[in-house]
Amino acid sequence: MDLNQSVRVIWALTRLVYFPSVAEYRKKADRLIADTEQTGPLRRLQEEIASNIYVDPACGAGTFLNVAYAQLREIETDLIVERRKREGATTGALDVTMDQMLTIDKFFGFELNWWPAKIAETAMFLVDHQANRELAARTGQAPERLPITLTAKITHGNALRLDWSSELPTPPGKTFIFGNPPFLGHYTRNSEQAEDLNTAWGEDVSGRLDYVTGWHAKTKDLLATRPGEFAYVTTNSITQGLPVPALFGPLYREGWKIKFAHRTFAWDSEAPGKAAVHCVIVGFTKAPSARQQLWDYPNVHGEPVPQRVVTGVNAYLIDGPDLMVKATTKPLSPHNPSRSIWLHASRRRAPRVQSQGRQARVWQRPRGSEVPSALRGDV
Ligand SMILES: C[S@@+](CC[C@H](N)C(=O)[O-])C[C@H]1O[C@@H](n2cnc3c(N)ncnc32)[C@H](O)[C@@H]1O
Repeated sequence: MDLNQSVRVIWALTRLVYFPSVAEYRKKADRLIADTEQTGPLRRLQEEIASNIYVDPACGAGTFLNVAYAQLREIETDLIVERRKREGATTGALDVTMDQMLTIDKFFGFELNWWPAKIAETAMFLVDHQANRELAARTGQAPERLPITLTAKITHGNALRLDWSSELPTPPGKTFIFGNPPFLGHYTRNSEQAEDLNTAWGEDVSGRLDYVTGWHAKTKDLLATRPGEFAYVTTNSITQGLPVPALFGPLYREGWKIKFAHRTFAWDSEAPGKAAVHCVIVGFTKAPSARQQLWDYPNVHGEPVPQRVVTGVNAYLIDGPDLMVKATTKPLSPHNPSRSIWLHASRRRAPRVQSQGRQARVWQRPRGSEVPSALRGDV
């Protein structure tokens, strides 16, 4: 990954990792540091952060894991420094190793390719080292890490075939899952990848689903038996047209709701000849009280603008009721049951009209620009 690509990944990350969970911890920590005299709540927040596991199931070289760990360690360092200030030398642990709780063994990744998997594992040591140096600069001590017993666990394998529950221990806290797994539409995946998707979705599989949704299916299954939240950067097609009920139907059925979403933005590829991909970020929770957040990109290459959410963020990333438009072969109007006409567009021939009924009406297919973008599928 070159520097420009890294910048784009980190840009997406600030939206993906920072907003949902890390930002909540940052806010809590800032509030506790500013508002309370006691040290107990500071310690408890530190314990909570360290009680979770953090997983990128298509981790590549591990940038998302690196940034999440670095940001969480920054928060933890602030909490340790504040506790030590309040407790003084009498009640604080003399050895900072006792105070420092979040470690890289709480970070997990899956990656198909061996080389990036190794880079991801190694990079976590470097981020750990940097975070320890920062702690030493502020407290005078760094936690002891030798001999090396703690490592991030990066599993080299096919995430859609791995048994996630045996790869990922059940932590005392939550399981946070995030990443940008690969997008592959129906015509671009090979037969093995098509089979991956079938395996991941089981009986809920649909040809409308992009390969990326295999990660939603595996996440849904894992988090059916433990608390957690998840968010992925994906192609925007998952929020348009027929893929919507195919993906969101099973998720809603199991109690998931959108916690935050970024509408379509362009993620430019730096590779020669490659176009920008249009992405969305959708984060999910099962917490009924979660206040939903939504961002829009008036310029897809520009900055996100927060949106006011009144009713709720639905699967088309619109503030409105939770409706999903499903395919149907029956006329919508009960008064016009047998007067439908189909336009058969073939690549080789002009549209052919087939009539059923005497006074048939032709429903013209609207031009792309006339269809609300949220309802338009990638055709
Ligand atoms: C868009 S990249 C993610 C890059 C990553 N965020 C990083 O920081 O490098 C998607 C990654 O998923 C990996 N991948 C593709 N198919 C996979 C599969 N079935 N199981 C696990 N990893 C897969 C690719 O090798 C690639 O590294």
